[in-house]
Amino acid sequence: MYLGVDIGTSEVKALLLDNRHQVIGSAGAALQVSRPHPGHSEQAPADWWHATQQALAQLRQDFPAAFAQVQGIGLSGQMHGAVLLDAHDQVLRPAILWNDTRSALECTEMMAECPELPTLAGSLAMPGFTAPKLRWVARHEPGVFQRVAKVLLPKDYVRLMLTGDYVSDLSDASGTLWLDVHRRAWSDKLLALSGLTSAQMPRLVEGSEAGGQLRAEVAHVLDLTPGIVVAGGAGDNAASAVGMGAVEAGQGFLSLGTSGVLFVVTPSYQPNAASATHAFCHALPHRWHQMSVMLSAASALQWVTGLLGQSSEGVLVAQAETLTLAQRAAAPLFLPYLGGERTPHNDAKVRGSFHGLGFDTDAARLGYSVMEGVTFGLKDGLAALNAAGSTVQQLSLVGGGSRSALWAQQLASALNVEVVTHGSSAVGGALGAARLAWLATGAPLSTVCRRPDVESTYRPAALEQDMLARRYTQFRALYPACSAFSA
Ligand code: XUL
Repeated sequence: MYLGVDIGTSEVKALLLDNRHQVIGSAGAALQVSRPHPGHSEQAPADWWHATQQALAQLRQDFPAAFAQVQGIGLSGQMHGAVLLDAHDQVLRPAILWNDTRSALECTEMMAECPELPTLAGSLAMPGFTAPKLRWVARHEPGVFQRVAKVLLPKDYVRLMLTGDYVSDLSDASGTLWLDVHRRAWSDKLLALSGLTSAQMPRLVEGSEAGGQLRAEVAHVLDLTPGIVVAGGAGDNAASAVGMGAVEAGQGFLSLGTSGVLFVVTPSYQPNAASATHAFCHALPHRWHQMSVMLSAASALQWVTGLLGQSSEGVLVAQAETLTLAQRAAAPLFLPYLGGERTPHNDAKVRGSFHGLGFDTDAARLGYSVMEGVTFGLKDGLAALNAAGSTVQQLSLVGGGSRSALWAQQLASALNVEVVTHGSSAVGGALGAARLAWLATGAPLSTVCRRPDVESTYRPAALEQDMLARRYTQFRALYPACSAFSA
C-alpha cells in the first residue's frame, strides 16, 4: 500500500494506492490563500502541515486496514513557492506562492544580469518562480533575508516535518530558477543572482528515489510505520504526469486546476525562452518535459461563479451547456488574466476583461465566456509548445475542470486534438506521488507507470471549430489593448 500526498493551493489531498493499481480511498483538507496586497499570494507553511495531518487522520478513519499497511509515502505539491527557514527551522515569513506576481522588477534585473539564464534554467525569469521572490525579500525585507538558512518548496516543507531532512526532487527544483536543468544539479551561478549559495538549498534526489524515512515521533502521531520510505516525489504537474502514465516522449496532459497547464514529455532538455514555456526535469531519471502554464483556469470559473451568486461551478456550467452554438458565437469574450499571465505573455501586470457585454448577457453567457477564455489561453499555450518543438495528438484532461463535458469538447475543438478523461479519483498529483513512493520501494517503471482507463473521448467537432476559430482571432486581438491599459 502506498500513500500519496499532494500539497495543492486549494486543498491537501491524500490517497491510498495498492499494488494492483486500485485507489483504495482519498481524503482532502481545504486551504485558503491570503492576498494581502494586489498581486501578492501567500500561505502559512504550518497550514499545509495541519491540513496534511487532517487529511491523513480522515484517511486512517475511513480506511483503517489499508492505512495500516502503508509501505511508502510520496509527496507532490504546488510548485515554485518560497518557504524561508532560519537556522532553527522556524518559518521566517508566510510562503510566497507560485501565482504571486510581486517580483516582476527583480525578473527584469535577473535577465539583464544573466542573459544565459533561460538556457541554464529552462525558462525566462518570471515572477512566479522562486529565485526572483528571494531578490524581492532581500530588497524589501533585508532583516528576513539575512536570517535565511534554508529555502524549501511547499511539499519539501511537509517532508521536513515527516523526515527531518532538507530534500527536494529535480522536477520541483526546476521551478526555482536555481537549477542547471540539463545537469540536474544546483547552479552556483544562478544561486548567486539571488545572493544565495548551495548551502541554503536542500539535497536533490530523483522523484522516484528515496528521499528520507518517516521519523519515529511523527509515525507515532500519524499512526504509520516508523522508518518507511518517503520518496523524492515531484512538483504537482510532473506528479500528475506520472499518475497518468505520461512518461515517454510525446505523451502529455492538460490540467484545468487553479492554474491551467499543458504538459508534454520531451526526449531531452529542450529550453525555448522565446515561447515563454518551461523546460523542466521530469520526476524520473534522464527525462525532461516542457509545459505552458496559465495562472487562472478553473480558478477563473470559481471566481465568476461566486460573483454571479451561483451555488457551484457545476450549476453555472449546466446553464452554459443550454446555450446553442449561435448563442455561444454571440457571447462576450473573456480575457482570463485575473492575476497576470505566464505563457505566452509573461505579463505580471495585465488583468482580465469581458468584451461585448449586452442587455442579453446573463449568467449562462458569462459562464460560457469564462470557460472559453480559459480554453483560448490554453490554445495560446499549445501554440507556444509547438513553437518550442513539441507536438501532441492526444491529451488527458485532469483537474477540477475535467468534470465538465462542455469544457472537454470545447478544448478538443479549439486545440484540434483528441481529449480524453479518466475516472476522477484515478488521476492527479496525489496518485502520481503514491506511484513515486511505489517506485522508491524498488518496483519497475513498466509495472507502476501504466495509463489509467479512459472514461470519455472528445474529438474536434467541425462546426464548433469554425465558430471558435473566429472568436479566437478576436481574443488574440484584444490582448495588446488590455496590456496597454494595464501597464
Ligand atoms: C507550474 C505552476 C502551477 C503550480 C500549481 O509552473 O506554477 O501549475 O504548480 O500548483
